Amino acid sequence: MTIYNDYDLTCHNTFGISATCRRYIDYDSTEDAIKAGRMISQQPYIIIGGGSNLLLVGNYDGTVVHSSVMGIESDIIGNNVMVRVGSGECWDHLVAHCVEQGWHGLENLSLIPGDTGAAAVQNIGAYGAEVKDYIYKVEGIEVDSGRMVSFGVAECHYAYRDSIFKNELKGKVLITHVTLLLSREFVPNISYGGISTYLTDHGIKHPDARQLRAAIIDIRRSKLPDPEELGNAGSFFKNPVVNKTVYERLKERFGDDMPHYSVDDEHEKIPAGWMIEKCGWKGRRVGNAGVHDRQALVLVNHGGASGQEILALCNSIRSDIKDMFGVDLQPEVNIV
Ligand code: EPU
Repeated sequence: MTIYNDYDLTCHNTFGISATCRRYIDYDSTEDAIKAGRMISQQPYIIIGGGSNLLLVGNYDGTVVHSSVMGIESDIIGNNVMVRVGSGECWDHLVAHCVEQGWHGLENLSLIPGDTGAAAVQNIGAYGAEVKDYIYKVEGIEVDSGRMVSFGVAECHYAYRDSIFKNELKGKVLITHVTLLLSREFVPNISYGGISTYLTDHGIKHPDARQLRAAIIDIRRSKLPDPEELGNAGSFFKNPVVNKTVYERLKERFGDDMPHYSVDDEHEKIPAGWMIEKCGWKGRRVGNAGVHDRQALVLVNHGGASGQEILALCNSIRSDIKDMFGVDLQPEVNIV
């Protein structure tokens, strides 16, 4: 376990915002997580992963806890493989490893930044896949009691970018391991529009797992800015899910121009990026904060932006969306 006082978090948030915390604890085993839990219980603390979904709006006067639990263990069971992963493993290293080993399912989730523990908290998703469909269980330590706890996938209450770890158990569990159930058989998921177009354009009829991963990486890079070059936290907002009445009202006004995805019989999801573009925000800059010019759902730090500047931009966008569409946009990033 490593502990630092008055620690600089600039390298721990992909927005690249300069902020400090009073204490930083890095745990790298289950035993350490128990100790860390004892140290933080009854005091202000937050748990972070790779910091790729985090907006720091000032210095944090408490403890920041981070997992460096590493390791990938596998157990082949017939056509499936159970993969138990340390929560501190970089998500995309894990995806690359699985593709190389011939363990399938995660290809469409390639290049998503962040750590494996956070992937399980956030239920990361992209290109027609969500991690919940591959999670078998999540293990960790309950902060208050120091007990080891384990949650089967049904107990994680997964939904779109949501889980029990963002609600009832928010901040209450230090995740140590995530176990995934993958397949040794490759069944490509190319249902998401952009993928099939990409494959056709590149003359690939039947992609293998490596080709699918490469395609996803290429598609992501063409739309999403690299945090190493331009600070950002991926999608800043969730795509709003509206009921049919609201959807019909919006459709009447914006017509077939409005993209939408059916969620269930009663609800439709409307891309927030489209709404933000429609309000004229795409590519705009306010001081050092801005809206990405290729994907309006991504807010960026053009260099030296403060968390407050990004937050002010977020609030201006939310207010314009409310005025134009009557919809409340919810941030996807954690604002601390
Ligand atoms: N759109 C616009 N203007 C924009 C951006 C998007 O009109 O500036 C339209 C697109 O033309 C398309 C639709 O909105 O019709 C959807 O756009 P896109 O495929 O880029 O996906 P998204 O809904 O904006 C979601 C995820 C991304 C994920 C992509 C691909 C959320 C909040 N975001 O974005 O996840 O990579 O789908 O599956 O659900 C993330 O969570 O950080 C993230 C990047």
